[in-house]
Amino acid sequence: MREITVHLGLGSNQGDRQTILRGALERLGAVPGVRVVRVSTLRESELVGQGPPQGAFLNGVAELCTSLSAAALLDVCKALEVAAGRRVPAPRNHPRPLDLDILTYGTQRIDSRQLVVPHPRWRERAFVTEPLQELGVDLDLLATLTAPVVIDDPAALAARTAAWLEGGCVIGLVPTMGALHAGHQSLVQRARQECDRVLLTVFVNPLQFGPNEDFAAYPRDLARDVELAQQAGADAVFAPSVGQMYDASFASHVGVGAEAEGMEGAVRPGHFGGVATVVARLLAMSRPHVAYFGEKDAQQLAVIRRMVRDLGFPLRLVGCPIVREADGLAMSSRNVYLGPEDRVASTVLHRALLSARHAFARGERDRDALLARVRTVLASEPRAAVDYVELRREGDLALLPAGEVAGGRVLVAARFTAGARPVRLIDNMSLLPGPEEL
Ligand code: PAF
Repeated sequence: MREITVHLGLGSNQGDRQTILRGALERLGAVPGVRVVRVSTLRESELVGQGPPQGAFLNGVAELCTSLSAAALLDVCKALEVAAGRRVPAPRNHPRPLDLDILTYGTQRIDSRQLVVPHPRWRERAFVTEPLQELGVDLDLLATLTAPVVIDDPAALAARTAAWLEGGCVIGLVPTMGALHAGHQSLVQRARQECDRVLLTVFVNPLQFGPNEDFAAYPRDLARDVELAQQAGADAVFAPSVGQMYDASFASHVGVGAEAEGMEGAVRPGHFGGVATVVARLLAMSRPHVAYFGEKDAQQLAVIRRMVRDLGFPLRLVGCPIVREADGLAMSSRNVYLGPEDRVASTVLHRALLSARHAFARGERDRDALLARVRTVLASEPRAAVDYVELRREGDLALLPAGEVAGGRVLVAARFTAGARPVRLIDNMSLLPGPEEL
């Protein structure tokens, strides 16, 4: 069999790290069909992600030439890890004497039960990218090989997720309507940290747009979305057409309850039914263990939480914090519609929400007084026409009992109508800053 060039990530943070790594390379070189060609400089790095307290890693990359198949090489690596004293199964992010990761296998893309090559997280870690560069690996080519698989056919999606599930992978789903921005990327990054496979969906769902809304004009750029999905670490992008999602005989719709009443539900009749229907369909098609949604659409999140509970979808829902521009505007795909003056004016939403939070921090506990502050700030911006200002209970967004404000979230919506086209923006903020905001 012809030889393939392989890059193997090396790591150790237990025992005599240098001796363990050197010993593993010697044993590897003695395996018939494996030659160790070069080894990068070894460097120290701290654990990436959450884990028990532990010492620093010694990391590097070895370049091998091998006639072994990727699966056979993986078996050899696992045997060496065990021989070095690694526990099997190894608990995630625990200290380990030896970690061997197949980063590349020629220019092949492998997505088997046990192995994904190129390694899905190679670009997130300097202790991988730097040694690869040192060994002269073309990182642009590697990036091409790591581009997410784009799927448009529901049957192909079902086959892929079935293979992932059969391989024992934890699947993370990030449903979007595309026009990705850093907020969506933060969802993918969170999923990447917590799951073995990350599926991003891009589908502008007609069911959730009213007749006078922007379905036709909604920004669509799949090539750019795939690029941003790749940067954030998605493994696959599901981007079906409307016909693939809903065939001509499609007739079932999810009904929604109290969470969908008021606020967006009042301004956009039928919107949340459309959201719930598409999300239910995406969950059924992709069978994720975890699904990630942004807190910017707080009411949507409350509706989906209720639906997941009521219909018994076996998964964990994760709400991720709002990502903001430097001037405070919450990231949204619709921000691209804002003309320059409305773009400046749009920061009023964030300022208005902050005014409530600051007043709460100074001891204001009167609901009407808190909301009046928000309205006053919004009124200071003549370009903003306010749709609603509400204070609701964190989580399910139910009305708070009279006299209660603690545990509340302020939600606002405003239209910026002076520009070439009206743009409607929503934002929200908890009265108490979350840990990520302190
Ligand atoms: O939040 C969105 O982008 C959409 O409402 C969702 C959840 C992808 C459903 O189409």
